[in-house]
Amino acid sequence: EKGGWSSFMAKEISEEPEAVANTLIGRTADGAVHLEELAPLGDEVLAGIDRIVVIACGTAAYAGMLAKYAVESWSRIPVDVELSHEFRYRSPVITERTLVISISQSGETMDTLMAVKFARESGAKVLSVCNTQGSSIPRESDAVLYTHAGPEVAVASTKAFVAQVAALYLVGLHLATVRGTLDAKAIARNVRQLHDIPEKLAKTIESANRLRELAHWMADTQSVLFLGRNVGYPIAMEGALKLKELAYIHAEGFAAGELKHGPIALIEPGQVVFVIVPSPRDKLSLHPKVVSNIQEIRARGARVIAIAEQGDAAVHPYADEVIPIPLAAPLFEPILAVAPLHIFAMELAAAKGLDVDQPRNLAKSVTVE
Ligand code: BG6
Repeated sequence: EKGGWSSFMAKEISEEPEAVANTLIGRTADGAVHLEELAPLGDEVLAGIDRIVVIACGTAAYAGMLAKYAVESWSRIPVDVELSHEFRYRSPVITERTLVISISQSGETMDTLMAVKFARESGAKVLSVCNTQGSSIPRESDAVLYTHAGPEVAVASTKAFVAQVAALYLVGLHLATVRGTLDAKAIARNVRQLHDIPEKLAKTIESANRLRELAHWMADTQSVLFLGRNVGYPIAMEGALKLKELAYIHAEGFAAGELKHGPIALIEPGQVVFVIVPSPRDKLSLHPKVVSNIQEIRARGARVIAIAEQGDAAVHPYADEVIPIPLAAPLFEPILAVAPLHIFAMELAAAKGLDVDQPRNLAKSVTVE
């Protein structure tokens, strides 16, 4: 079933573009978003919700963290992202105007299942984004939007992650449509960006081959840090999680703006730091801020591997390595930037001779709380 691939994970990373494309199929037409799956929630109810709470665990939670930026920007609804097990065991503020969105590849994660039941008992509507037909979480939800990533076998989630982000972006655009917060032209522009992702993701995966060599060179590395800002922040967290899971290396993801508030103390000569660099075209002008972060850590001897927009000349003088990603609108770039981090974690684990599909102590779906 692995075909010619060395592992399921290698195969599944190669399927990331397809996972996004398949998740979009039949859900957009003429530049508009059509999500029949959301009908059970009712557009009137969706127009009236005043808060979204995303609940998920692991990689799925990082998909939620990333989607928060897009959904808030497009629909103007505040979004909180919570780990299912933290949400469940306190007294969260939930009303009938709260939409809870659960995210789960397997649909069987007990922490998330319990949180879904709890949310409904508390009066919220629950929409679940799930990759597995007929699983438990969809059965407990008011509405389900399936990701069409296909079966994911490797324990570490890869193609499901990008499919989850695509599905959540569709939800964001649907909400913006029913609430009138974006006009038809803006919706169409974002729909086009979404449809462009698969091809750009395939290109990104091709040019990330260089990471293979890097991973071999780094097989003895003890610690890796990941910095990202804005939409790059959840990607930094995801990059760190993958490295912990697969290569058993101490890894931390940080918000780049937080660097001077603590993490910079960790920088010593030779420390490897991945930096997800925002687009220089970003209207928020975050690019120079992150480039200056890179200068700060380089000055302290860090080895910097930058994931940056192709043609970003400002990064090259300061980074030891630059992994280029094709141009995309800022909210869409992180869907491209994540693939090199998936590849890097897999290659480093392979370089250490580890089982990338079945890392120690982990299970594909955790069906106990
Ligand atoms: C885990 C898996 O423990 O569960 C992760 O190892 C995954 O890869 C997490 O992200 C959540 O799983 P699911 O199926 O709810 O998306």
